[in-house]
Amino acid sequence: MEIINRRQRIFSISRKFRREDKKVGFVPTMGALHAGHLKLVEECRQRSDVTIVSIFVNPTQFNDKADLEKYPRDLTQDAAMLAELGVDYIYAPDVEEVYPPGFSTYVDVEGLTGLMEGASRPGHFRGVATVVTILFNTIRPDIAFFGQKDAQQVAVIERLTRDLGFEMEIAVVPTVREPSGLAMSSRNERLSDEERAKAVVLYNSLREAKRAFDKGQRNAADLAQIVDNAIEEEPAAVLDYVSIVDRETLQPVEKIGDNETLIAAAIRIGDVRLIDNLILNQKQ
Ligand code: PAJ
Repeated sequence: MEIINRRQRIFSISRKFRREDKKVGFVPTMGALHAGHLKLVEECRQRSDVTIVSIFVNPTQFNDKADLEKYPRDLTQDAAMLAELGVDYIYAPDVEEVYPPGFSTYVDVEGLTGLMEGASRPGHFRGVATVVTILFNTIRPDIAFFGQKDAQQVAVIERLTRDLGFEMEIAVVPTVREPSGLAMSSRNERLSDEERAKAVVLYNSLREAKRAFDKGQRNAADLAQIVDNAIEEEPAAVLDYVSIVDRETLQPVEKIGDNETLIAAAIRIGDVRLIDNLILNQKQ
């Protein structure tokens, strides 16, 4: 495994493999790797000839400078985990390598970014879309892997890939969970043991709504109410939003039909904000 810091170099390595007709797989991350990230890497290894993982804490997607500064960084530990999984290259650029001096070009994916996570994190998805576009352009993978845990991010990336004409596949990997059901996240580290046990209310509330859906409930407001009530019962948790939306367009749905529909929610426990979602009617 090799760690690359330069844009030019990862570009020419990736180009060499493409010319040899090798399938280049790419997993973008911000490091602080956990089992959720590693699942993406394993899928990538299985589905491609060369696996490139980027580790880059992207400043443009943080709306809070303090959050950016306290984001955990440990390249040595991340690299050890990735080496063990058989990753071929880590791309770990400095900020100036991704954003050269005078940088002024941003990618705005309209219509998908105002609601849900976008409502409490203005500018977040613009930063995500911009960095992912730069990384796609630098690496030009055949296939890139993203986690269903960040469902709105998936919708944004799928849209920009189509709209900007990137000829690549976007693979979506199901959410990896702790044994309790809590979705794996670097933010879980900021919860006390007690809070962590309580945080599972988020997943449980979504599952309760999904069970009602499976029994025939198609009314979004009623399904949302189930989540609302369940969160209400856990005094440590405060509901930020619960949304029932089309998986691709993220438009609110009133009556759930054939299109894949997400139930997505965010809660706050102490000062930690957690998100999770389920697809109510997944097509296979
Ligand atoms: P990061 O939070 O490091 O996540 C990297 C990838 O891991 C994302 O696709 C995310 O959805 C996925 N992931 C995180 N937790 C997961 C879990 N429990 N199960 C499955 N997948 C999970 O998302 C980002 O970084 C950044 O926004 C990025 C796309 C790298 C752009 O900067």
